[in-house]
Amino acid sequence: MRQLLTIIDFPKDNILALLNRAKELKIQRAILDILKDKCAVMIFEKHSTRTRISFEVAVKELGGYSIFMTPNDSQLGRDEPIRDTARVVSRYGHLMIVRTFAHKKLEELAKYSNVPLINALSDEYHPCQVMSDLLTIYERTPDFSGLKIAWVGDGNNMAHSWINAATMLPFTLHLSCPRGYEPDEDIVQRARSLGAKILFSYDPIEAVKDADYVNTDVWTSMGMENERDIRTKVFLPYQVNMELLNNAKKDVKVMHCLPAHREEEITEEVIESEFSIVWDQAENRLHMQKAILEWIFSGD
Ligand code: CP
Ligand code: NVA
Repeated sequence: MRQLLTIIDFPKDNILALLNRAKELKIQRAILDILKDKCAVMIFEKHSTRTRISFEVAVKELGGYSIFMTPNDSQLGRDEPIRDTARVVSRYGHLMIVRTFAHKKLEELAKYSNVPLINALSDEYHPCQVMSDLLTIYERTPDFSGLKIAWVGDGNNMAHSWINAATMLPFTLHLSCPRGYEPDEDIVQRARSLGAKILFSYDPIEAVKDADYVNTDVWTSMGMENERDIRTKVFLPYQVNMELLNNAKKDVKVMHCLPAHREEEITEEVIESEFSIVWDQAENRLHMQKAILEWIFSGD
């Protein structure tokens, strides 16, 4: 049974095929029946706009249907153990798509579930977003070797998934985060041992220097709201603005998984500029997730 908890779950030699398939599905806006009459149970413990809607549309366009559930309207919010939920839900549905806090919770769900599980974001990773972002890059620059992708901001779940992505494709990832907000060292070390080209600088100018793509994300991720005041101060030198972008390649593209906070991690001027490809990234969630669903259901 195939699962998607982190990008490393994909076979490395399959990643370009998956990107090509997503491109095809996008061009055709394909309506298929590979999920015919299958039910995707979506359990979301955090807010979502893009992930929820793109998955619901994807499942429908592949012939299936979805049921959306949050702790507010289920027994999850009244302390029913996650493992019991997994065992019960996998007797009704054919797939679970889960957004939660601790990544360990997803691993526990996967362990007790008899149906495939897709990580729709955890505190540690956001694989579906970064797979869609890889598609957005692939559409513009199909050869990843020689590309410099910068990550500026928090060493968060998105940064971790970019680090994992760097084990699958031959680009250089240059991260820049404030002291105390670096990505998890174990995740970086594992990626390096798998061949990822990962650089790190505290100075964001170094990270974006001659970059082809500059990525950022919110300074305060979901679940960290009580740190918002301090983070707003600490991250200010890491804002993606025109001045910072002047250090990148002339035709640099700016990426953000959204939702964006203008004048915090990214300025209005940048997000609305010709450098910004954020809306294509958001669209590609749909097409990439269709390819992921097809991959999951074409497995043994
Ligand atoms: N990028 C992303 O995952 O957006 P949502 O939180 O709206 O799903
Ligand atoms: N890092 C952000 C991503 C949102 C899609 C968060 O976890 O809130």
